[in-house]
Amino acid sequence: MFKTVFKQYKVKSTSPDLSEVVSFDEIDDNPEKDSKAQRISFNNEDTNWSEFPGLKSPRAWRTFVLKSHPGLLVIRNPFTDHGQRYWIARCLRDYPRAPNIVNLNERLFDDSVRCDWWKELQECKDPSERHRIKAAMRWTTLGYHHDWDTKIYNEHSKSPFPEDLSRLCQLFSSYLGYQDFRSEAAIVNYYPLGSSLSGHTDHSEPNHLAPLFSFSFGQTAIFLIGGRTLEEKPTAIYLESGDVLVMSGESRLCYHAVPRIIQTTNMSTDSLPNESKLENFKFLDIDLFEQVADSNYWQPFCSYIADSRININVRQVLKPGDLKLN
Ligand code: SIN
Repeated sequence: MFKTVFKQYKVKSTSPDLSEVVSFDEIDDNPEKDSKAQRISFNNEDTNWSEFPGLKSPRAWRTFVLKSHPGLLVIRNPFTDHGQRYWIARCLRDYPRAPNIVNLNERLFDDSVRCDWWKELQECKDPSERHRIKAAMRWTTLGYHHDWDTKIYNEHSKSPFPEDLSRLCQLFSSYLGYQDFRSEAAIVNYYPLGSSLSGHTDHSEPNHLAPLFSFSFGQTAIFLIGGRTLEEKPTAIYLESGDVLVMSGESRLCYHAVPRIIQTTNMSTDSLPNESKLENFKFLDIDLFEQVADSNYWQPFCSYIADSRININVRQVLKPGDLKLN
């Protein structure tokens, strides 16, 4: 059943039937309508969370759950435009840099590209080579590196986990009541239009009780969430730029996939006003935060995201109290 639905959305046709795809904005506009999802609220608004640069105040966050998939939550774009720019630039300029691992094959790309993909892409003048370099980037891994073959994490294969991303996840995890979440591994996925990710479960982490945080930026994904087996029919939802999807509880080990990317999002190229008091947030790359507000600096990132999607998904690997893998 999962594979059949996946193929329905992945079909090459330019206009697949999207009438079943859950749109959270539509639910908000028509709360009375019988829908597969509903909005929920949290009673924790008195905490001083609005202090995080690039995020809207939690009072303005809108959180949704799917009635038939307990444990799956979507916080609908809690980021400001400035915040989205920052995380997009981090995913393009910084996260694919060594010692993080990228998918780029050593037989097809020089070390220079494999160690600093974005810099080489910006410096490349030949249009067809630029296209080749751009399209080839599909993932980078941070923290404990996911091993795509064995699916087993290894204590000897890890790079430092970015402090800014860890703090971001800490904030969302405390908002949802997971005070002890630790960001220990992430995969950043890059999706050019036309790409997809087939059905899988994320079960490599010894810790299945901690939630998984998944951030979407750029073009919209159709995301499928199914059950513990491929027999169950998945539900399709839209994940739009800025959305935060959380897989916790029962949904943590469920099949999921991205059969299609739809071009819907036009990010502004204008300069933005800068935020104040950034010096209190030393865990951010403050220079980058300021630079992305400038239209010239933002332009190459904006151009990349005009026909691509980026997803960052962050997991806790170790069980509570463990300091390393056994
Ligand atoms: C994943 O499951 O690894 C990525 C999901 C997504 O791109 O939203």
